[in-house]
Amino acid sequence: MKGIVLAGGRGTRMYPSTLAMSKQLLTVYNKPMVYHPLSVLMLAGIREILVISAPESIPALRMLLGDGSHLGLDITYAVQEEPRGIAEALIIGADHIGDDPVALVLGDNVFHGAGFPRLLRSARDQLDGCTLFGYPVSDPERYGIGETDAEGNLVSLEEKPVEPRSDNAITGLYYYEPDVVEIARDLTPSERGELEITHVNQIYLKQGRARLIRLGRGYTWLDAGTHDSLLAASQYVHVIEKRQGVRVACVEEIALRMGYIDADHCHSLGTRMGNSDYGQYLIQVAQSVA
Ligand code: TTP
Repeated sequence: MKGIVLAGGRGTRMYPSTLAMSKQLLTVYNKPMVYHPLSVLMLAGIREILVISAPESIPALRMLLGDGSHLGLDITYAVQEEPRGIAEALIIGADHIGDDPVALVLGDNVFHGAGFPRLLRSARDQLDGCTLFGYPVSDPERYGIGETDAEGNLVSLEEKPVEPRSDNAITGLYYYEPDVVEIARDLTPSERGELEITHVNQIYLKQGRARLIRLGRGYTWLDAGTHDSLLAASQYVHVIEKRQGVRVACVEEIALRMGYIDADHCHSLGTRMGNSDYGQYLIQVAQSVA
C-alpha cells in the first residue's frame, strides 16, 4: 500500500499564522503537525509516501522530512498549485499510486488511541473499494457524515448535512483501491470549485464498495485547522505525554518500533537533537530496546 499526506491548503482560518508558513508545519505542542499524519501511515505499515503541498511549502517540508531514509521511509514530494480539493491529491498522486492501494491522510489530522496500529493494518488487509474511518462528534452538521444501518453497513454519505442522520464524522484518513485514480479524474468541481473527496466516496458507496470503520470512544480524533483546535490538540498531546511519559506521533520511535531503523540509528537521531527533550527521549528509547 502506498501513502499520501495531503499537506497543502491555504490555512485561511489560521491567518496571520499561516500567511508565511504552511499550517502543517505549525507546532502541535512539541513537534510539527505533519508528524501526526505521517505517523498514521507509518503505523499502517506504509513506507512509500508522497507528500503533496503548496509550491512555497515544499522546501520547508523537504528540509524537515528529507527523502525519509533516516526513518527507513521513501518520501517524495509533489506540488498542488492551488487548493482545488482533497480529491485532487489522487490525481496528482496517480503515478505514485500506480497499481497499488493507497492511504490518503490529511495533513492537519491528529489520531490517537490504543490499538490504532492494529486497526490500521487489519483495515488495509480487508480493503475492498474504499474504507473510511468515522468518529462520533457533537456537531455533525460541520462535517462529512456517514450513516450506518443496524449491521454497521454504510448506507449514506452527506457533506455538512443541515439535519444529520448520524453523528459519525468522516475523518481525514481514506483507504482506496487503485481504481480511485480513474474515479477522481472523472470528477467535476463542486459549487465551491473543489474536487470533493465526498463525491469519490459516494461513487464507491453506489457501487457497494464503501465501508466505514467507526473509531469508538477509546480513540481521539482532532483536526488542528483552527487556532482553538490546534490549542486543543497541543493540550491533548501535552497531557498524554506528561502523564504517561511516552510520546505521541514521535516518528523516529515509530520507525524503530516498526523495525524500519535500528536502535543505533535512533540513538544518533536523538543525539542530533540532544539539546531538546525530544532528542533525549529518542536516546532513552534507543537505549531501552538496544
Ligand atoms: P481545509 O482545512 O479544508 O483547508 P485549508 O487547510 O486550506 O484551511 P482553511 O479552510 O483554513 O483555508 O483542509 C484540510 C486539509 O487538507 C489540510 O491539511 C489542507 C489539506 N488540503 C490540501 O492540501 N489541498 C486542498 O485542496 C484542500 C481542500 C485541503
